[in-house]
Amino acid sequence: MIKTAEFIMSNSEVAKCPKDNLPEYAFIGRSNVGKSSLINMITNHKNLAKTSGRPGKTQLINHFLINKNWYLVDLPGYGYARVSKSSKKKFQKFITDYFEKRQQLVLAFVLVDIRHEAQKIDLEFMAYMGESGIPFSIIFTKADKLKPKAIERNIEAYTQELLKTWEETPHYFITSSASAIGRDEVLQHIDTTNHEINNLKQE
Ligand code: GTP
Ligand code: MG
Repeated sequence: MIKTAEFIMSNSEVAKCPKDNLPEYAFIGRSNVGKSSLINMITNHKNLAKTSGRPGKTQLINHFLINKNWYLVDLPGYGYARVSKSSKKKFQKFITDYFEKRQQLVLAFVLVDIRHEAQKIDLEFMAYMGESGIPFSIIFTKADKLKPKAIERNIEAYTQELLKTWEETPHYFITSSASAIGRDEVLQHIDTTNHEINNLKQE
């Protein structure tokens, strides 16, 4: 359950992120996929993270402290075509820096729009996470935009695409920030993971 959710800080450098050793969960995915909206939905705060209909809204690493105990992290999107070629290698450097250097990161959620078939850049990002040994789950967003049958069909197609390169499919969640679908499941997963971390610490 979420009792408190507070914005702590925005950063362009991993080194300046919060120094306390609390576990954190990061949201990553293409611009406009709904990362910031999902943080608001999960925390039940309308305007905690800034959202926009235009891609490229989130530009920094944003830390939100939950229950004074763990962080949700909102990141800028990748694959935003209007960012100049020079600043946009494949994935912006400070995003890869964040994933490679942030010791407190427990799990990343890679968000994909449930309406679209698997996009190359998302599959490449998941491959990068796999190669870097960073644990991730998939969150399908905007489920309110499809009927149940279409959701089922798209998940099946996405799973089949993943199985071309992955031995097993990553854990996934179906969500909608508009209708709060999937909120409990994502929160439950974070809760369970936090408990596992605490148990490990006590051993
Ligand atoms: P960047 O910060 O630019 O990388 O984007 P983002 O991934 O944070 O996306 P954001 O949360 O700003 O949402 C982008 C647009 O999608 C906004 O217009 C949202 O209202 C809309 N949106 C996000 N989630 C949902 C959803 O679950 N359902 C519907 N219908 N619209 C959504
Ligand atoms: Mg955003």
